[in-house]
Amino acid sequence: MTRASFRTNAGGEAIGYDPFSATVRANPFPYYAQLREQAPVHRLPGGLWVLSRYEDCAFALRNPDLFSSSGTRLMMMGGLQAGMMADIETLREARRRKQRELGLPPLLGTDEGWNENSLIALDPPAHEKIRHIVNRGFTPRQIQRLAPRVQAITDRTIDRILARGDRFDLTADFSMPIPLEVMAELLGVDAADGANFRRWSEMVIQGITGSVAVEGPDPLLRTLHEVAEYFLAVIEDRRKHPKDDLISLLVAAEESERLSPVETVNFAILLLAAGNETTTHLIDNAIATILDHPDQLASLRADPSLVEGWVEETLRYEGPVQLAFRQATRDVELHGHTIAKGDVVIVLFGAANRDPAMFPDPERYDIRRDAQGHMGFGFGVHFCLGASLARLEANVALETLLRRLPGLERTRATVDRFDSFLVRGPTCLPLRYERKAAR
Ligand code: HEM
Repeated sequence: MTRASFRTNAGGEAIGYDPFSATVRANPFPYYAQLREQAPVHRLPGGLWVLSRYEDCAFALRNPDLFSSSGTRLMMMGGLQAGMMADIETLREARRRKQRELGLPPLLGTDEGWNENSLIALDPPAHEKIRHIVNRGFTPRQIQRLAPRVQAITDRTIDRILARGDRFDLTADFSMPIPLEVMAELLGVDAADGANFRRWSEMVIQGITGSVAVEGPDPLLRTLHEVAEYFLAVIEDRRKHPKDDLISLLVAAEESERLSPVETVNFAILLLAAGNETTTHLIDNAIATILDHPDQLASLRADPSLVEGWVEETLRYEGPVQLAFRQATRDVELHGHTIAKGDVVIVLFGAANRDPAMFPDPERYDIRRDAQGHMGFGFGVHFCLGASLARLEANVALETLLRRLPGLERTRATVDRFDSFLVRGPTCLPLRYERKAAR
């Protein structure tokens, strides 16, 4: 029995949703439906609230003055894994103590948490200030310029698969290396650091949102320290030798005092954590789901213009980011419940994306549907900064994969899930393709 199953709704039925349990992680969607229908404003035993209807999630995300991203900060400080409400000062103090215990010296003369004050954890107006600086590097036009590079990286990745035989692991051999290499180029760092990038992004996400986080903060703190040291060195280099890359853009902002040195490093860490695993899982989820829908796969092969709709439908139906945290800034009444000032709220993107009030027949995967308005990239002021980039990478990667490797099929029926209550996707996806027809 899961922790949350002791709770009942007004009608008396048990609400089994526990975001931290393996059962829910394996298939959260029946739980989402139960929440939406029976307990749209639901309180978990540890005190966290859960919102699951589209209009309620949109309400919370549209009103950062009522629902603050300090909820995200609590998560990033490692405070919410066990589903208990956390208090930021206690978390900060625990972290400082742990850093001292591990012998990690304060970098840049501060022992502020390395991921504590990043863009994603800030509210307006501080949020707008930083978002404005980095937006310039991520406009759809800027990102479209990367299309030939993304295509070249994708083709090279497929060449490597072709050279090895008719079996491969989609995650390790395809959907992981492409975003890592693209991100390295964007940041202007050596693609050979890719192995470190992979280890770092996995550890940052799992250290914050996986079961390893429950066991203790040591691996996360060590990793954050290592990443911060790495980026501090890159930043120092760009200060002396500016280039046409994102780190140089941040350094220029830092020099005109719009960003502090800590904010610069935090932003680089955020990009690493936010932009890699998520894009990998979007590509994986798109392939895993389409293989279960052979008729739609056949349509995609016949008409590649459907790829865009496929990507959007996957973001709606099997989005790589299932939820976000917010914290109430004052008492808020919702459907007869009072969410008290300071309470933490889980905003369930994954449930909102299957709300029948927003998407007709929502449990049907349909690459031709109008999925506009999905919350796969969030909603409101924190709407994903990298959405255009992720869309470009997924569109190019998926179109090329179907074109060059025909006859894709699974070689294993079971799926091991990535260890995270936030990020949804497999750890590996072993596949076979028709070697003779490949190009
Ligand atoms: C399929 C891939 C991706 C998905 C599903 C995804 C999803 C999300 C979601 C749901 C949020 C909102 C979080 C919240 O409201 O608290 C977000 C924010 C963010 N994402 Fe993404 N993301 C993806 C790819 C990327 C990429 C490639 C980058 C970077 C290049 C990126 C950078 C960011 C940043 C910086 C934020 C914070 C924006 C802000 O606070 O204003 N993401 N993402």
